Amino acid sequence: MRNCKKIAVALAAFLFSATAFGQSGDFTVSGKVVNSSGQALSGATVTFLNVNKRLSWDFSRADGSFGTVVSGSIPRAEQTARLSMSASGLVTVDIFDMAGKKISTVVNPSLAKGTYSLEPVCAKLSKAMYFVKITANGKVSYQKLVNTGNNLRTSSDYSLSSSSSEMVLAKKLASVDSIRVGKTGYKSVIVPITSYTDNITTPIALTAINIDAQVDSIFNLMTLPEKLGQLAMPPNAGGTGVNASSAASNRIGNIFGGGGCLDGKDAAYNADYVDGVQNAMINNTPRKIPVLCGYDMVHGASAVPGATFFPHNLALGAIQDTLLIQKAFRVTALEVRGSGCNWGFGPCIAVIRDDRWGRAYEGFCETPERTQIMARHAVLGIQTTDLSLPQAYAGCAKHFAGDGNTLNGTNTGTTEGPDATARAINLPGYASAVQAGVATIMPSFSAWCDGRRMHRNRALLTDWLKSTANGNPGFKGFLVGDYEAAWPLDSSVWAGVDVPMAPGTGVGIISTNPNTTGPGGEIYYQNFTNVYNAPKFGGILQGQVNDAVKRVLRVKCWMNLFSPSQYITDRRLTSLVGCADHRAVARACVRASQVLLKNINSAIPIPKSSNVAIIGDAGDNIGLQVGGWAVTWQGQAGAYNGVTGTTVRQGVAATCTGNVTYNQGYTNSNYVIAFLSETPYAETDFPDLSLTGKNSSGSNSSVITQIAAAHAAGKKVVVVLIAGRVLDISSVIDNCDAFVWAGLPGTEGNGISDVLFGDYKFTGKLPVTWPMNSAQEPINSGDTKVGRYAYGFGLTD
Ligand code: BGC
Repeated sequence: MRNCKKIAVALAAFLFSATAFGQSGDFTVSGKVVNSSGQALSGATVTFLNVNKRLSWDFSRADGSFGTVVSGSIPRAEQTARLSMSASGLVTVDIFDMAGKKISTVVNPSLAKGTYSLEPVCAKLSKAMYFVKITANGKVSYQKLVNTGNNLRTSSDYSLSSSSSEMVLAKKLASVDSIRVGKTGYKSVIVPITSYTDNITTPIALTAINIDAQVDSIFNLMTLPEKLGQLAMPPNAGGTGVNASSAASNRIGNIFGGGGCLDGKDAAYNADYVDGVQNAMINNTPRKIPVLCGYDMVHGASAVPGATFFPHNLALGAIQDTLLIQKAFRVTALEVRGSGCNWGFGPCIAVIRDDRWGRAYEGFCETPERTQIMARHAVLGIQTTDLSLPQAYAGCAKHFAGDGNTLNGTNTGTTEGPDATARAINLPGYASAVQAGVATIMPSFSAWCDGRRMHRNRALLTDWLKSTANGNPGFKGFLVGDYEAAWPLDSSVWAGVDVPMAPGTGVGIISTNPNTTGPGGEIYYQNFTNVYNAPKFGGILQGQVNDAVKRVLRVKCWMNLFSPSQYITDRRLTSLVGCADHRAVARACVRASQVLLKNINSAIPIPKSSNVAIIGDAGDNIGLQVGGWAVTWQGQAGAYNGVTGTTVRQGVAATCTGNVTYNQGYTNSNYVIAFLSETPYAETDFPDLSLTGKNSSGSNSSVITQIAAAHAAGKKVVVVLIAGRVLDISSVIDNCDAFVWAGLPGTEGNGISDVLFGDYKFTGKLPVTWPMNSAQEPINSGDTKVGRYAYGFGLTD
């Protein structure tokens, strides 16, 4: 029963404070959000429409307020052009205040084409913002005008329809941007702002949408094949999957993409593909229901070549700044949406109880308390609190539950018991993800401690996760099965999976009908139809199918997916995939996730003038940095198509003013930076945590020898472990002056040089207890074992 009591108390405290939305992005416009009855509305997402401000967002607090109130003089961002005339002749200039009230008219019978000063007029006006309507030879145009007393500023021309009300025009003309305020289940509103520090005094009212009524209005018209289509998920076109025409003719509800699904194609290619499918669904199906297109998005938009790849989750778990974590997932959302996808299989919120698990790098940490926090920030980053935001996508918390807590860390094995302990460790993260609004959840391949496979575990999938009884999460989104997780579709074992992930061919998902040899989606629902109609399943299955279909439709309604702004890709986002701003966030994450475990003899920071010898494969190897789930499923060592970024060596070279060599020994250097690493992998078991185990990268043995020799030769030796998990470092730890756990940092290797050379301090803390060796596993905080370094340990210098 280790930790049980402590965990229960922590969970209670968390749920108690669950209505607070906490940290969010960098937002300075302030205001208040209310519901249609005028009561404060918390948890609304506020964003700017200007895509350059995409990494600034806020959530309304308990009193409905958002933003930061800025006092003192407020700089305005207007342009300084003079009033300019595009026509000459008889010109009328009407001046309006910002409420749309006309306050002055200037008629100039002989104005020439060109610029014109209104300063004499403005001298008579109070200092304020106005807009002017210029009528010249029957042509109307509008311009904004700011009278600061001695200085007149106008905007360039606006071509707005003169039929709009002057009030609307005034606001549009005055705005430098608009804010969008929305919340899942509410109709969003757009409010123009006149500067990026505006204080909006009129409360912004959001009206609730009756989502269930919307779902029913679609559902009630659907035929059986249409309903079953909503539960189908054939593979994307990168494989042998659906195209626009087969998607529409089969009334497909979802599209699947696993590791490597884009086959080297980029974000623009996929956006074209998805937009094509969506247009076909709208134009060629009776119900016009757009698809959810979900790919594995594991550390950034990691299925997408050219995207920004963040540190894998275990390294993100070392970051203390939760805003930065949220920001990482906001960037992911922008890149996922830019690539045309609107659904992604992540975040993985496995609690990493055994470091031997081959997927340890996919979870954030070993404690349920911190998993709750990480899950919340990941979901808020991916989805915000408004799934109808065009820059949010439907997240998928996985793998429910106990995947990181199996006996001996065996992948797809059996979770350690007893039941109460397993629940206390593995369920809180999901309560947190649901509370943050996660749209979908994926059951685990593993079995619960009672031996029942999770896909068949009605007690947890339905009676706990989907139920609201006894304070259970009451999850209203849908459960997507894991890849070809075989479970006979039989009412006696139907445990709650709504959308089976059955994209392949020959998938034995339907025990009563082995005819599963065609392309996944079509055959899947044909079989599904047969089974659904089989008398043996009676009403129970029909009820479950209906509930599953409604859950899929609910997610689509939450997302407002029926609107073109949601189902068609915003190409501005496509052009931002892998952009410098996004990489800067990833670099900040790399830097903040580095954990300094040893630092003697003032080894770190490394003086920039040092002569540095870099040794070890991972010192200059983008493939080893990004690990698995990077364009391809397994990842691979070295440079490869679609993975672009900076290696650590490149980062060191840009920082260090001394001589930098790579894999050329250490004789002529005073500093050695030695890299140890793992060969990329995904979903594989490597129970051996030794540095030279089966999954270690080729150079480790020789690097270990060189570390000892360099140390004996009196060099300063800094060892950096680039690995998805914690390993047995007994062979090197006494032969170095400094030791850093870098996790799997992703594409921005210069985040590592940032901290090694002292441009930034080390702030990362261990997300797991570091074992002495494999035999000590499982080892976790709160148990009696003493590892090499405690959970939460990390030096600052
Ligand atoms: C993994 C999931 C993944 C799915 C789709 C499975 O093998 O367990 O994490 O989302 O494949 O690729």
